[in-house]
Amino acid sequence: MRKTIDFIKNKTGDFKPESAIVLGSGLGAFCDSLEGIKIPYADIPGFAPSTVKGHRGELLFCEINSKKFVIMQGRFHFYEGHPLSVTTYPVKVFKKLGVDKIVLTNAAGSLRKDLPPGSIMAISDHINFMGSNPLIGKNDETLGTRFPDMNNLYSKRLREILFSCAQKLGIDLREGVYCALTGPSYETPAEVKMLALLGGSATGMSTVPEAIVAKYCSMEVLGISLITNYAAGLSDIAPNHKEVVEMGRIAGAKLTELLMETVKLF
Ligand code: HPA
Repeated sequence: MRKTIDFIKNKTGDFKPESAIVLGSGLGAFCDSLEGIKIPYADIPGFAPSTVKGHRGELLFCEINSKKFVIMQGRFHFYEGHPLSVTTYPVKVFKKLGVDKIVLTNAAGSLRKDLPPGSIMAISDHINFMGSNPLIGKNDETLGTRFPDMNNLYSKRLREILFSCAQKLGIDLREGVYCALTGPSYETPAEVKMLALLGGSATGMSTVPEAIVAKYCSMEVLGISLITNYAAGLSDIAPNHKEVVEMGRIAGAKLTELLMETVKLF
């Protein structure tokens, strides 16, 4: 951890980010209008290179409305073969850099007919179906407690800001429960039925490990899913990565606008 922090501070000087944003599939365009200090993951000690197409793989340190941010363009996934300790390592690094608010975005499949592709969903809660937990292992007491509470993980305060910005922009914002499975295979129709029965609204392969670690580190968490497709069995089209990235790009413009407006109020 020391090596990572020293490396980053050497590049960023006295820039101290207060908030972090993690951009999911196809949402990299959020950074197009932003300038700042860029550091490729491949250069950062302790970071793994991102291997997924459609993810850029770098940190951007920048200001938005005079507030200081670190933005992750692309994340590390469990299905890439990284242990959860590696996929969530950046969150711990951000905490050590002074971050106390984090926005986690993702592309997700809809589990409900009334949540069509193109929708934006504020995550109200999650179900961890990854079969593991990023906090397994020796606990670092400087970051958080051994048995952290996961109540109110997704900040009501930040969600209220998000909803008020959506209303201002005329964007229809939904709310729901995000289910995380490991991937990389998409769900079967039977699994999709099960997740919906259990109260899930959307399904994906990320976000939950980072959210758990962020809450453990006492950060305020805002989670947003961009619904890119109907999950398996809900439509005639089988989920596929091309569709996910394309819808990410199309509906991602709406999410980019909403996110920009929201983080200005952080
Ligand atoms: N399932 C899982 N992850 C996803 C999906 C999906 O349908 N769409 C985007 N990410």
